[in-house]
Amino acid sequence: MDKRATLAGWLTTGTTPSASDEHFAPSNIALCKYWGKRDQQLNLPVNASLSVSLGHLGTHTRLVPIDYPADEIWLNGEKLVPSAPFCQRISAFLDLFRNPDHCHFRVTTRNSIPTAAGLASSASGFAALALAVNDSFALQLSKEQLSVVARLGSGSACRSIFSGFVEWQMGHREDGLDSHALALQYRWPGLCIGLIKVDASVKATDSRSGMQRTVETAHLYQSWPLQAASDLQQLKQAITAQDFELLGRTAEHNALSMHATMLASWPPLVYWQPDSLKMMHKIWKLRQDGLPIYFTMDAGPNLKLLFESTSLEEVMRQFPDMEVIQPFGDV
Ligand code: PMV
Repeated sequence: MDKRATLAGWLTTGTTPSASDEHFAPSNIALCKYWGKRDQQLNLPVNASLSVSLGHLGTHTRLVPIDYPADEIWLNGEKLVPSAPFCQRISAFLDLFRNPDHCHFRVTTRNSIPTAAGLASSASGFAALALAVNDSFALQLSKEQLSVVARLGSGSACRSIFSGFVEWQMGHREDGLDSHALALQYRWPGLCIGLIKVDASVKATDSRSGMQRTVETAHLYQSWPLQAASDLQQLKQAITAQDFELLGRTAEHNALSMHATMLASWPPLVYWQPDSLKMMHKIWKLRQDGLPIYFTMDAGPNLKLLFESTSLEEVMRQFPDMEVIQPFGDV
């Protein structure tokens, strides 16, 4: 099934789009990772995942219809060339909702994610774009439906429709309409995330192809869905009980297990840099010495530290260049 066919029931033909408001979606960090697709077209996952959204750090996007033969895309105040891969992905997403021969947009998008943080912006980017499309075409979709729409842009974007802790239910339908995120009702005011940038250069293998290579070549990947299902349950228990040790060790174990499946791929997939490993050893040593601190990593060399605000001073002393985010309130 293709993307447009899955949305057919939600779109009204002949609607003339209007200028949208500026819409915001937060970036998110997965504590139980989405790794592997059961449908490449629709970004349907092999496993359910769980993330925390990053409060006011994310993407702001506005759509304005223009009388021009192509889309005009602005990112952080700069007009991009239409052949840029970023523009092509945005235009392809807009094609799901419009007749591309008749309708083009000025897309103004800006990220409030610190540029030095080593965070991907595709999750918040496609979530904000889904919200702007919903407004421009007056679709009046629910949050669950918007999460489905955002998923068609980038899998992890479906979680960025919600704030706080978010679970992406993998779903089982072929059309993917049951594969969307939901907000968990629990908050964790003292939870902190520290962004440690090891290398901000563009990675050689994006997460889309990395995921596919792992699924196709790593025997170890066969154990991943079971591990992810068990980690998801442990994380939900940790969140309900506000048990930081359980949250931290489950998230760290989950991230390292995902990286183990990457290492077991062929050609091998290694996102770590020597400094990533140095940081891991530093964290393990600090933990051994009694500091409750854990980490998670995505398809890149940078680390995201997990700790509670009671440890903030000591963690800052150990990692003075770290950017700190409190997803449930400002530091
Ligand atoms: O949404 P994508 O295609 O960028 O994939 C994201 C994959 C990870 O960041 C590695 C894990 C996750 O759940 O966010």
